[in-house]
Amino acid sequence: TDVKEDLSEQLSKLHLQAPEFIEGSYPEYNVVDLCRNYIAGQLSKLTGVDKKIAYDSLAWSIVLEKGDLIVPLPRLRLKGDLVQMAKDLAAKFELGGFLDHVAPVGKFLQFFFSPKFLLNVVTPDVLKRGAKYGSAPLGKGKTVLVEFSSPNIAKPFHAGHLRSTIIGGFLSNLYERLGWKVIRMNYLGDWGKQFGVLAVGFNKYGSDEELAKNPIQHLFEVYVKINQDIASEKEEAEKTGIPLDEKTSTDGQARAFFKRMEQGDKEALKLWKKFRELSITKYIGTYGRLNIKYDVYSGESQVSQKTMDMVMEQLHEKKLIHEDKGALLVDFKKLGKKKLGKVLVQKTDGTSLYVTRDLGAAIERKNKYNFDKMIYVIASQQDLHVKQFFTTLKMMGYKWADDLIHVNFGMVLGMSTRKGTVVFLDDILENVQERMLEIMQKNKEKFAQVEDPKEVADQIGISAVMIQDMQAKRINNYEFGWDRMLSSEGDTGPYLQYAHSRLRSIERNCNIPPEDVLKADMSLDNICGTVEQIKKQNLDKEEEEKQLKNLALRIEKVTALIRIMASYPDTLRYASKNHEPSTIVTYLFKLTHQFSSTYKVLRVMGEPREILLARLALFSSVRQILNNGMRVLGITPVERM
Ligand code: ARG
Repeated sequence: TDVKEDLSEQLSKLHLQAPEFIEGSYPEYNVVDLCRNYIAGQLSKLTGVDKKIAYDSLAWSIVLEKGDLIVPLPRLRLKGDLVQMAKDLAAKFELGGFLDHVAPVGKFLQFFFSPKFLLNVVTPDVLKRGAKYGSAPLGKGKTVLVEFSSPNIAKPFHAGHLRSTIIGGFLSNLYERLGWKVIRMNYLGDWGKQFGVLAVGFNKYGSDEELAKNPIQHLFEVYVKINQDIASEKEEAEKTGIPLDEKTSTDGQARAFFKRMEQGDKEALKLWKKFRELSITKYIGTYGRLNIKYDVYSGESQVSQKTMDMVMEQLHEKKLIHEDKGALLVDFKKLGKKKLGKVLVQKTDGTSLYVTRDLGAAIERKNKYNFDKMIYVIASQQDLHVKQFFTTLKMMGYKWADDLIHVNFGMVLGMSTRKGTVVFLDDILENVQERMLEIMQKNKEKFAQVEDPKEVADQIGISAVMIQDMQAKRINNYEFGWDRMLSSEGDTGPYLQYAHSRLRSIERNCNIPPEDVLKADMSLDNICGTVEQIKKQNLDKEEEEKQLKNLALRIEKVTALIRIMASYPDTLRYASKNHEPSTIVTYLFKLTHQFSSTYKVLRVMGEPREILLARLALFSSVRQILNNGMRVLGITPVERM
């Protein structure tokens, strides 16, 4: 309420009357919400429709030409000639200082926010809130658990893990900005027969020294070697017809080793534990480069036997289990869910499986964290698996299974580095840094000014990888293209970085303390100039016309820019509904393109102080929003490049 009072006071200073605020709206954090409240009030006054219905009927407009908000009249449940009604409503609509105009288009009303109002409200708001601009306490008191990345120890970190890392990191940041308590969890593939394979392999090929130096790399090498042995033994057996010996064959030994692990054999577990811990230590560093810090390193190994036994018991109890030659499975076909096929939950030898561990893990997490929502960021290749275990949980009677969300995504094609196919996250990061450094060195003069070129190349390189990944709808596949993503032309990470460093340089050149910038006169007249000012100069006809045209252009550009800036908080909220990083990425390109075309007609340096201050305030706000948006995505904006 305090903040709402502040808002009313702030508005009255601008000679605006605060509209009545609807429950569950956030006008004090989101100017679009403020306008929603105003428009809903007017609509209700003019049509008699309930205010809440009017509020909910207001839709987002994707392009500026169609307004900032739209109401499709059918949504108001009014009867009669809606086309005529749209015209009448537009004519009668009071603009209240919030709106510039209202346009009737068929059965739609398009609302255009007043740039004068926005400039006075949004710019100081951005400058005052800084990094917090865009945040709102939507999820206050609620907890979301985001499980993402989740690579398998000893196996390659593939493109699927990369995408999960990027998207999951973004979603965690986003929910945090929206007031949720976020638990970031990495659910490692650290259990299963492959650890038996790895242990046998390590005893044969491993070196403690190498393991300490680069555990992920070394374990992978061992894993590859021992798998070659297994493959050739198998081939040999097929050729000779002599079956593999369970005791002496590598495969048999591996199976036996994993069985010992599952039974809790201390000696077997000791080695596995070492692999796991060293790998995690290494991972912490790599994720750090991506600004990701996990709250929990969990993993398949961490699901307790007790929970798993309970899961099996409950499955039996609810009659969800079928037996097939000693193995136990859930047959969805028999349960009226044909599309889900069937899934094995216990092998003949009694050892557990991927899906069983997922069931147990979900239950343990609910007990431990009591989340309101849990998000799994997993490739769409596992759509079926995820559906199977979500559905099973629901059938077991866990109502909170409805709070589980699968955020899926498509594949990456052709991801290889100069040294060959990518195996580790580190490879990708090293490679992109190297390439970026080469590009930066081409401009010797600029390069000399960059303080820590390696660090900057790292940040820009990472932003290239991230933007390429988050640019399109998640579900799309994309081709990994080094040259394309590193180019500073087109919609790329380096382009965003370039825009940010350019904005920084405007600020550096002006070198005015933030307190002074905040005091700028943000009237449209001050920022763009006025017709009177031009007329007063008694210019010749041709020159006057030219000046008037330029003035109109400035107003047009500034209007578009401030309208885009105003929609940032709403964009964050929208992204938290569709879980699409592309919502933010698209927004940031819209913002930076508009900035760059506005900057062309709106000079800062060399203007009289009053004008300079206002224009600087405008561009400083753009920079702040760009900075905030990049950080939500997980990107660190650079100062110079
Ligand atoms: N480790 C798995 C893999 O690499 C991904 C785990 C996804 N998370 C889950 N709860 N199943 O395929």
